[in-house]
Amino acid sequence: MKVAVIGQGYVGLPLALAAAEVGYQVVGIDSDPVRVESLNAGRSPIGDISDLYLQGQSIYYKATTDFSEIADADVVVLCLPTPLDSAGEPDHSILLAGATAAAEHVGPGALVINESTVSPGFTRDTLAPLFAGRDVAYSPERIDPANKSWNVKNTPKLVAGISDMACDRAVYFYSKFVTTLTSYSSIEVVETAKLLENSFRLVNISFINEIAEFCSAMEIDIREVIAAAATKPYGFMPFFPSAGVGGHCIPVDPQYLASKAREIGASTRFIDLATKVNLERPSYFVGVASGILGSLTSKKIVVIGVAYKPNVADVRETPAESLISLLRSAGADVVWHDHLVGQWNGEVSAALSVGYDLAVLVNPHDGTDLDALGSIPVIDTRGGI
Ligand SMILES: NC(=O)c1ccc[n+]([C@@H]2O[C@H](COP(=O)([O-])OP(=O)(O)OC[C@H]3O[C@@H](n4cnc5c(N)ncnc54)[C@H](O)[C@@H]3O)[C@@H](O)[C@H]2O)c1
Repeated sequence: MKVAVIGQGYVGLPLALAAAEVGYQVVGIDSDPVRVESLNAGRSPIGDISDLYLQGQSIYYKATTDFSEIADADVVVLCLPTPLDSAGEPDHSILLAGATAAAEHVGPGALVINESTVSPGFTRDTLAPLFAGRDVAYSPERIDPANKSWNVKNTPKLVAGISDMACDRAVYFYSKFVTTLTSYSSIEVVETAKLLENSFRLVNISFINEIAEFCSAMEIDIREVIAAAATKPYGFMPFFPSAGVGGHCIPVDPQYLASKAREIGASTRFIDLATKVNLERPSYFVGVASGILGSLTSKKIVVIGVAYKPNVADVRETPAESLISLLRSAGADVVWHDHLVGQWNGEVSAALSVGYDLAVLVNPHDGTDLDALGSIPVIDTRGGI
């Protein structure tokens, strides 16, 4: 069976290699020639995929920019970015561009699976017509970068199709390398389930962030509060404070749900409020910094860990960006340190030392040398007082 995976990023590459590992003939298609060259040279652009593992799949896996490779593929999987546009609205344009390019080549008997996160109804109403006459299915990816326990093979996968046949074919395809698969009555159920999962995280993280602000004002240790509440064996799930949610999913996907709700005249007040609380977190910490230093003018501040989560180099939607920008607007002399990110926004990671007036911990990685800060004041956005 030949499989074409369109988009070789955080989602598409692990999927393509897992499929190659079980003997599918896999071609990974990506519009970025530098990425394709790197993949074919056995150099992985993704932290979770080692060069050794990539090189080990070279018999059954190759990368290309050539969409005509799709022509004899039995299965075509779309793993393309679905970000927000400059107005904060869903931007399906990259997915549509890739799907349209794929549709020019896809064979008559191919199964097309969308893994990109989309608004409910998008797969049936917009993608499926591009692939008219083919079986089309939806199966959202749930990958959690840097998670050592859960990966593409052992994370339960949801599947639905525009027909029973499409669903059955998708389940058969995944069953060779995914241990738990569940299928559902409609694509819209699964599209909405994916958005529910990430909206649930946005709402709960924003909630704990607000509680953290309350605890800070009361001089109560929020981490001890969470640990205490988490002893309840049912009905509670711990979430932890931060400078705000980041990454390609948690701040983004709920907007796909909210946008669809607006379109049909339904409300998503929890998502709207959680988004507001989340976006206000960086300015809250500017206030905390002023509380410690007084005027921030010319104060030397280092922001530590600018990736959107610990132990990844991904800075998409990171709250560190807004935090740095707000601190600079307040007159501070701000640098950042992140040994995994290294270079970002035309700047390089600064060394850690005792030569700062203040350090702000956003997402320090394992191995970040916080001892190098000596005894300078530190704001820990993860719940330190
Ligand atoms: N990153 C995650 O943790 C995660 C988790 C679950 C779901 N998702 C969803 O999966 C989808 C893909 O996200 P990702 O994080 O893998 O994105 P990504 O940016 O890491 O990778 C996308 C890849 O697609 C390529 N690409 C862009 N346009 C193309 C085109 N027209 N043709 C071919 N290739 C093209 C890019 O060069 C890039 O390599 C999104 O809908 C996202 O919401 C992401």
